[in-house]
Amino acid sequence: MDIPGPAPRADGGAGAVAAAGGLHAYQLWLHATYGPVVRFQLPGAETAVSVADPVLLEATAHLDERPERLFAFLEPLFEAGNLQVLPAGEHAPLRRLLLSVLAGRPSHERYFARFTELVTELADRWAGKAAAHEPVASQKDLTALSLRMICTYALGGASVDPDGVVAAFEEVLTEHLGRLYRVPQPGDGEERGRRARDALAYLRARVDEVIAAHRPGSRTDRSDLIGALVEAGESPARIRDTVMMTMLAAHHTTGVAVSWTLHLLGHHPEAAARVAGELDRVLGDRAAPEYADLRRLTYLERVLKESMRLYPPGPYGARLTTGALVLGDYEIPAGATVFYPFRALHMNPAHWPEPEKFVPERFAPEETARRPRLAHVPFGLGPRSCEGAALATVEAELILAVLLKRFRFRPVPGHEVIPVERFVLWAADDIRLLADPRTPA
Ligand code: HEM
Repeated sequence: MDIPGPAPRADGGAGAVAAAGGLHAYQLWLHATYGPVVRFQLPGAETAVSVADPVLLEATAHLDERPERLFAFLEPLFEAGNLQVLPAGEHAPLRRLLLSVLAGRPSHERYFARFTELVTELADRWAGKAAAHEPVASQKDLTALSLRMICTYALGGASVDPDGVVAAFEEVLTEHLGRLYRVPQPGDGEERGRRARDALAYLRARVDEVIAAHRPGSRTDRSDLIGALVEAGESPARIRDTVMMTMLAAHHTTGVAVSWTLHLLGHHPEAAARVAGELDRVLGDRAAPEYADLRRLTYLERVLKESMRLYPPGPYGARLTTGALVLGDYEIPAGATVFYPFRALHMNPAHWPEPEKFVPERFAPEETARRPRLAHVPFGLGPRSCEGAALATVEAELILAVLLKRFRFRPVPGHEVIPVERFVLWAADDIRLLADPRTPA
């Protein structure tokens, strides 16, 4: 059967994507119009198919390559090749190595105290805003916080100037994402390009210092990313790339996951009260959880999952088919680009009744067991899924626990929150919130 979709146009699809306001918005429209499997044109991809059905997606779950062209804008950041599009054979051992550190408890425990200090500093600043009756810019502050966290983590807590690293990374990212989304930037383009190159060189030099400080065999556990890469015999260029990739993948995603969650709780006071009650029960008088407390915060975990269902920080993923694929009644040829439209998938009414509603109870174990495995995939799926999922969850739950123990959040009257695609699912004009102290300071 032919896969439904819009009639081909002479411009190769560029106009339709632009008119919708970007690829993510276009995919949402396509699925609303043509159903869960859609074929569409995309410049550079002869066949593009987007699949928003979690059962049919199973047939794609083994795919292990991404289409290079879609990620080409990141190429200048890497020396030994963009890790997101490494061929499967080269990618698999690196993935195992990354998972052995990022998904392991030793690394989470090692940085937990530092992460707690960083979020407590933010909470103190927000208490100042609350006292002055000023709203907080949650998206800006939380992405800055998660960047700080991942810098600490990726550089192994080394005594590298954290402000310098954060500022350099922001410089690089603003320049490259700005080019991708054609966001107008102040100042002279050449000057900005030079500053971004200098910032990238600065970051690479900092990673080299950390590499140089590692002595072979000096690592004692699986908590140290650079140490693990050095020990595995990876080249310095590949190690620098991996640190860049980790920072890039980690900071906007984790920050927006938390700011969207606060946004939703601001609009759902009963769910917020239930989270606060759970935090009071589990933490008592303590302002922050210990690592071991996180697994007792079961309602908070459901709230985070439901928030990432409604606002998946990475709005879509993509794969390349290496052979023909059968998806129910449809066949997708080899060499096609398959899109995973995470948000459309999470809104599929066949698996999510009243999909627009925020209902954390959907993630009670018996409810989850009733749904197909791939109905909720904010971290992607298969051999290219997010290696940072476990770390991101620890960070997000810690941040939420500290902030929600201390504040009750309310929307700012008249402030409109508009989701847009900016590499992650971003709010166009931030998510401003009023943070009312829950207990007297
Ligand atoms: C809430 C936070 C996060 C979300 C929602 C998220 C989501 C995603 C998604 C959707 C992908 C693409 C998956 C696919 O194509 O199937 C991805 C890839 C990736 N993420 Fe995350 N991520 C988060 C945080 C992190 C963190 C903290 C790290 C690292 C410390 C990280 C590292 C990576 C890496 C390395 C990849 C590339 C995967 C590969 O090609 O092997 N992410 N992430």
